Amino acid sequence: MQGDEPTHPEPAGAHGHEPVLLEAALEALQPGPGGTMVDCTAGRGGHAAALGRSVGSSGQVVLFDLDPGNLAYAAKRVESTGGGQAVPIGRSFAAVGRELSRRGLVANGLLADLGFASNQVDDPARGLSLKAEGPLDMRLDPAIPTSAKDLLARLDHAELRELIRRYGEDPAADRIARKIVEKRRDKPIETTTHLARLVREAYGSRARESRVHPATRTFQALRIAVNDELGALEALLAEVEAAAQLVRDGASGWLAPGARIVIIGFHSLEDRMVKQRFAAMDRAGLLGDRSRKPVVPSHEETRANARARSAKLRWAKVGPSEPR
Ligand SMILES: C[S@@+](CC[C@H](N)C(=O)[O-])C[C@H]1O[C@@H](n2cnc3c(N)ncnc32)[C@H](O)[C@@H]1O
Repeated sequence: MQGDEPTHPEPAGAHGHEPVLLEAALEALQPGPGGTMVDCTAGRGGHAAALGRSVGSSGQVVLFDLDPGNLAYAAKRVESTGGGQAVPIGRSFAAVGRELSRRGLVANGLLADLGFASNQVDDPARGLSLKAEGPLDMRLDPAIPTSAKDLLARLDHAELRELIRRYGEDPAADRIARKIVEKRRDKPIETTTHLARLVREAYGSRARESRVHPATRTFQALRIAVNDELGALEALLAEVEAAAQLVRDGASGWLAPGARIVIIGFHSLEDRMVKQRFAAMDRAGLLGDRSRKPVVPSHEETRANARARSAKLRWAKVGPSEPR
């Protein structure tokens, strides 16, 4: 999917990913004509195209994505809206502050729609889906040196247990880690379906009690570890906080006073980090306003798009608090 042509006008679902909580994100971001909006996770450009239309031809949408194919696709899609100019940056959003400062850009809003896009999970060659047979790769960026297969071959029992417990929050982490170490002596664990089968075996009769496939959490844990997802989110939040401090001190930085930050997470580890950081920034007087509760999708949205089910959106407005 390397930069394949986006279609225009845009039939729903034609882009390989349906944007989640689009209306809520736009409402929280309030993109206006001439603005500079940052989409940290360009994906298939669903949110970015809407931002491009809102900022119009005098505005710009700065796009980050680790996946070169998705970045190119999203940039073309933004340009095809006839709205804002696309500024694609093929790096992790962990470097957002540095990359914007280097270009002298000041953002009026920033969106991060975390995790992976549907076109990535639907591609068996990436090994993100436990349903389709594929190599256990899981790298969103092909330049990342370590794949899931490498981790499964290299980590010892205690390291695997810790990884599955911490990033998958799976109470069966110890049994799964033991099973992996035992079975890889016979045959390296190299495919998605092989791993899914081993995890089911480790669950034993308890697999029947699990609402989702018992390997779901192990897959999540490996994907988070391979792509350092929580490290990147922590770095992004730290960059946002540092820029908000500059706003408070009246110094210039890469975030404009009043800039709006929107983060959509898909599991409790992400949501907890965002919630705690926004609360800490609020206590430090860095935020004018913020969501108190996460915004979640409507029944209609989750019915139409199963991926939206676990989404939680939190927003914050950088700058001095407004009189209540
Ligand atoms: C949920 S999708 C975004 C979908 C997008 N909002 C849309 O409407 O099409 C997440 C995207 O973020 C990218 N991504 C994940 N981690 C990243 C990181 N640390 N830096 C930049 N991009 C990242 C993935 O490659 C994927 O394309």
